[in-house]
Amino acid sequence: MNSRTFAIIKPDAVKNKHTGLIYDRIIKADFKILSSKLIKMSKKEAEHFYLVHKDRSFYDELTDFMSSGQCMVLALDKNNAVEEWRKLIGATNPEEAKEGTIRKAFATSLGENAVHGSDSNENAMIEIKFFFKESELI
Ligand code: CMP
Repeated sequence: MNSRTFAIIKPDAVKNKHTGLIYDRIIKADFKILSSKLIKMSKKEAEHFYLVHKDRSFYDELTDFMSSGQCMVLALDKNNAVEEWRKLIGATNPEEAKEGTIRKAFATSLGENAVHGSDSNENAMIEIKFFFKESELI
């Protein structure tokens, strides 16, 4: 059954001109892009989006980075979308990411790891709603 996931092409990947190459992988992997937009998060928005990590040592570094430049947010649809997107992007730490994954190709470090993906269907719904109105999902 088709389901949704939420993705971000992070500021490092946008700045390094990898947006088009990552889009190509999304399309070739048969995800339907329900909506996407280029945004720049404020520090407050980044703090709110990553609130679940607020007690982690990297929270400040993470939210500084995510609000440091443009990023592309996407709502994606596919059969088993959360798991399929996580498979395509690879491990959070690019040193552990498998060949052929987006992070293996484009991530430079654990913090600047090119893309984000929701970790559950429940969080996918929350994260999509954070950036998109239902009427924007085509
Ligand atoms: P993401 O999938 O966006 O979800 C949370 C992010 O926190 C994660 O990708 C990493 O980029 C980041 N992260 C996780 N662990 C660390 C760490 N030890 N130092 C810096 N950033 C981290």
